Order: sequence, then C-alpha cells, then structure tokens
Amino acid sequence: MLDLTASNPTECGFAYDAQAILAALANSASLIYEPEPRGLLKAREAVCEYYATRGDSVSPDSILLTTSTSEAYSYVFRLLCNPGDEILVPQPSYPLFDFLADLQDVRLVRYPLLYDHGWQIDFHALQQAITPRTRGVIAVNPNNPTGNFCKSHEMVQLNEICAARQMAIIADEVFLDYAHGETAARSFVGNVGGALTFTMSGISKICGLPQMKAAWLIVSGPGQCKTEASARIEVIADTFLSMNAPIQLAIPSLLGQRHGFQKQLLERVRGNLAELDRQLARQQSGSRLEVQGGWNAVIRVPATRSDEELALDLLATKGVYVHPGHFYDFASDGYLVVSLITPAAEFAKGIKLLLSM
Ligand SMILES: Cc1ncc(COP(=O)(O)O)c(C=O)c1O
Repeated sequence: MLDLTASNPTECGFAYDAQAILAALANSASLIYEPEPRGLLKAREAVCEYYATRGDSVSPDSILLTTSTSEAYSYVFRLLCNPGDEILVPQPSYPLFDFLADLQDVRLVRYPLLYDHGWQIDFHALQQAITPRTRGVIAVNPNNPTGNFCKSHEMVQLNEICAARQMAIIADEVFLDYAHGETAARSFVGNVGGALTFTMSGISKICGLPQMKAAWLIVSGPGQCKTEASARIEVIADTFLSMNAPIQLAIPSLLGQRHGFQKQLLERVRGNLAELDRQLARQQSGSRLEVQGGWNAVIRVPATRSDEELALDLLATKGVYVHPGHFYDFASDGYLVVSLITPAAEFAKGIKLLLSM
C-alpha cells in the first residue's frame, strides 16, 4: 500500500540528531520537582527566543506550556466557554476540533473559507454565524489542509470583529514555519492592540517531535483583558501541572534541533509539490488548489461520485491511501488531500496511480 496520508514525521525518513535529542533528556535537574503552573522559566525563555528569531518579541510571562496544542485548546475552551457556548471554526479545517470541543461541552459553529485562486475568510458568513453565545474565533495559520496563511487585512478584520464583541481570537500556528515560498509568515503573537488573543504552537510540528509532548499557549491583547485571562488560565494549568521536568529542561535543546529538521521537511514538501505539478500538467482531469504552506496539498478531481467512494476505490483497486475532502469538512465533493511529507518515491508512485483513476 502507498500511504499518501503520512502525518507522523518520525516515520517519514527524516534524519534526526538522535544523540543530541537523547542527551537533552538526561539532565540531573530533572531529579528536583519545581511545580510551576506556566512551565519552567528556562523552557519559556527558549520559546521567547524562537519568536525572537522570527522577529516577534514575546515575554516569558505571557507563555504557558502544555503537553500538546490539543491540551492548550482544552484550557482555552474551558476558560472562555460555559457549556453550550460557541466557538467559530474554519471550514474546511483540522478534524480534531469536533472532538476537542465536544469534550469541553463547546458548540462549534463553522465559518467558510472561500477558494478563488487562493483561500480567504468569508467575513460576511463569519459575521452571520455570530450569536450572543459566541466566545471566540479559531484561525489556523496556515490552515490544515488548505495551507493558506491569514492575510494582514484578515488579521485586522478579525481583530475588529472580536474586539467589538468581546470575543477572543484563538490562533493555531503549528505549521507557521512551513511557508513554501521564501517569505516568513506573520504570527498572531504580535497581536497586542485589538482582541484578546491565544496563540498556540509546539515542537510536534516545529521540530518534528510529536512524541515529546511539548507545546505552548501565548496570551496577548489589551492590558486588563490579557491580565485577567492569564491569571485565570494559570489556575487551570496549576490544577493539572501536566508538564514533566525532563521535557521542559530539554525544550531549549529540542528547539535548537528545528533548523536541520525544517530544512529537510521543506525540501521534501517543495519536491513533492513540484512532482505533483509535473504529473498534473500531463493530464486533464485533476488540478491542484493553491497552497502557501503546511504539510498537505488539496487535489481537485471530477465530482462524479463522493470523495469517500473515490478514496475507498483508490485504496481497493490501486492500493493508494489518501484522505477524502469530507474528512476535513470540505463543503462539497471533488477533493482529495495528500500529505506532502510522504517519502518522495512513494509520493510520485501514489500520485501516478491516483491520476490514472
Ligand atoms: C492544525 C493543527 N493543530 C494542532 C495539531 C496537533 O498538534 P499537537 O501535536 O501539538 O497536539 C495538528 C496536527 O496535525 C494540526 O493539524
């Protein structure tokens, strides 16, 4: 079987500096327990340094470490929402949101992303989706699987809408470093003037180390609002104290590993995208949607049957495994999602079989 859904970077043939990673875990300071609800200062400072290299100034006080962005979502949902309150979420997007929201008794309400030579937020629909129970808007920057970054004017508009209604922006930036072009994308961490903002990311994607379970949440926004939200979310984190010492102590070193990993990953993604375009250019039935960043590509195929039927047929007759668009809640049939981090030979072979359907 050719698996074109690969999302686990530790199984995609990337070279890691095993010695450095393992050495980072053997720190004698781990023998001491220092309960710190926001996470150990040294680890938070390393996160500040990560943002500094991107040109963003972040204070360690505004950072809270979590074991995953999923955990960060659960804290933010619990902070903002009473049972039945609503959070706006992009469509299409990351399938785990439904589970994360259900577990916190939060109701998700979709706002569409529109495609027209690139993706953009449908602000008219977003505003219409707001009710008195809406507490926040999730922006995935860049979005998974569509790969669009939040544009400057979209950031401004999101701020205006949220600030006017005392709603928060929840920015998921796990793929922020994976811009396919040369220009680095803008983060929401610099969002200080408008709406209360929670920006999350982690080493699962930044360093390709999902097994280490280390992520973070950064609170920004107008003074009083930010101070109050930070104090309350600290109570949630203090209740669990879920970060362990060895990983927190390793975070500076693990973040230091990201450059080597990101270089390999971006080479893989750009190579696979070029291969996809080469193969698409030779045929008429499929095309690729524009993608700015991230680890996936969306292929438009004739909607002669449901995405699910097509994906199952592809698996049964050609042995090629892809995600149907409905998995990410595409509004209509005719979309398949492929992972650009798939090893190159497997990707090229799988795409050839896919396009021969
Ligand atoms: C948009 C998005 N956010 C978060 C995650 C998961 O991150 P973590 O491993 O930190 O929970 C993923 C994983 O694919 C993702 O696609």
